[in-house]
Amino acid sequence: MTAPQSAVARYYLTTPIYYVNDKPHIGHAYTTLACDVLARFLRLDGTQVHFLTGTDEHGQKVEKSAAAAGMEPKAFTDKVSQNFRDLAVRMNFTNDDFIRTTESRHYAACQALWTRLMDKGEIYLGAYEGWYAIRDEAYYAESELIDTPTGKKAPTGAEVEWVTEPSYFFRLSTWGDKLLAFYEANPDFIAPRSRRNEVLSFVKSGLQDLSVSRTSFSWGVPVPKGLEGGDDKHIMYVWFDALTNYLSALGYPDENGALYKDFWPPALHMVGKDILRFHAVFWPAFLMAADLPVPGRVFAHGWWTNEGQKISKSLGNVIDPLVLIDTYGLDPVRYFLLREISFGNDGDFSHAQMVKRINTDLANDLGNLAQRVLSMIAKNCGGTVPTPGAFTEADHEMLNAAAALHDSVRASFLEQAFHRGLEAIWDVVVAANRYVDQQAPWTLRKTDFARMETVLYVLAEVVRQLGLIVQPVMPASGEKLLDQVAVAQGARSFADYTSRLVPGTALPAPQGVFPRWVAEAEEGAAS
Ligand code: MSP
Repeated sequence: MTAPQSAVARYYLTTPIYYVNDKPHIGHAYTTLACDVLARFLRLDGTQVHFLTGTDEHGQKVEKSAAAAGMEPKAFTDKVSQNFRDLAVRMNFTNDDFIRTTESRHYAACQALWTRLMDKGEIYLGAYEGWYAIRDEAYYAESELIDTPTGKKAPTGAEVEWVTEPSYFFRLSTWGDKLLAFYEANPDFIAPRSRRNEVLSFVKSGLQDLSVSRTSFSWGVPVPKGLEGGDDKHIMYVWFDALTNYLSALGYPDENGALYKDFWPPALHMVGKDILRFHAVFWPAFLMAADLPVPGRVFAHGWWTNEGQKISKSLGNVIDPLVLIDTYGLDPVRYFLLREISFGNDGDFSHAQMVKRINTDLANDLGNLAQRVLSMIAKNCGGTVPTPGAFTEADHEMLNAAAALHDSVRASFLEQAFHRGLEAIWDVVVAANRYVDQQAPWTLRKTDFARMETVLYVLAEVVRQLGLIVQPVMPASGEKLLDQVAVAQGARSFADYTSRLVPGTALPAPQGVFPRWVAEAEEGAAS
């Protein structure tokens, strides 16, 4: 794999925009978390980042949910969209913008893109007759449906209905070969690999023209009036509308605006595996047809199960990210979600695994490393950064291992291999604990005080570098680690990776950064 080895200049990354038919769940938190970690990493790395998230507020699914809540769609979406903004604050997400598809800037972009496609003859008026699944907001061919005891269903299990209505179509059928050539020329466009193959075989099996407007309901962006065959009864298909958000947020159709000029096309669309087809097939086809540059990459991550079970509202096992944060704390949750499974695969959430990660990786490994190093320094070096002597081979090895993390974690994160980046960090944590045991500074204190100072200096420096590199994943904990080794606020970016702690700097009294998770019952028993 060709991993980029140096910092990138600009990076526009997006989450899917979330349907406002329901309150946020773990899937929403997960997708945005992955983007947040990458955005934070890149900003610390000196990259100019634009990180977008938002809400998808049109379509039948949302219209129905509003009706069920007895509210007008706009009032309903105002209310539910706010929950997603609140989640972003609670999860400590650093999105640069939050787009709502009910905003006028978005209407302007959708209508401009539509007009451009219409002018190029890529959209035409016809009539749709076929299956539609409201839950997925997707059309399905008869051949894709599955027979169940309760009738025909979408391959996702969603209910389908037969739809007959006038509709505008996008000439998707003419884009198959161009898409295949594009995938071929850009092998990293769809990730991970296994998903890429899925998309390729879908496109190879032949594409149908895509219905891109609806007339049977009205909650959407109106098709621009005054077009040949134009009809203001048409509203845009919700996926045409939704995908365009990535352009709207950069001020499109103003292609001379600073945001558009700096950031289009996106470097990365992060999506869940269920919505890959929309991003990897329809979206690049719309863009190519409009003669606009195409995104660099679409990464489809896997799905979480809960204690081995598929997550569903009917099973009542939906994981509320706010409850997770209240139970385990924010940084441990952020860490767990990206460490527990290989990013891209499906994975299981379990309380036992969560507690194991907190107590082993965070409390025992990283927490304990910082705690023992810093308390030895507090006790033996007058609470200041010790003065090192000449470094031994082992010291260099330790320092080099920590220093190498900057590039290796960047390479992993830029491939969205978040788990791999974290594994590399923890390899260094484990190596540092081993180094402490091997060097035994508590013995050196009596036998060779100067050598003890060197060892503690090396360790304090490793703690500093670990503090820097964990910031994107665990921002508050990274900050606390850096506070502990008295790193100035202005010296916490990755440009400071190669600087060194200054001997003699006063350190604050050591404080635990990663508490162990103790069940309430045990806590009660212990007190
Ligand atoms: N509105 C569309 C996206 C339009 S983007 C132009 C949409 N919205 S959604 O609210 O349904 O998106 C949910 C996101 O959460 C998707 O990326 C989906 O893959 C993800 N997840 C939903 N359930 C999930 C899990 N159980 N686990 C992980 N992610 C899951 O689709």
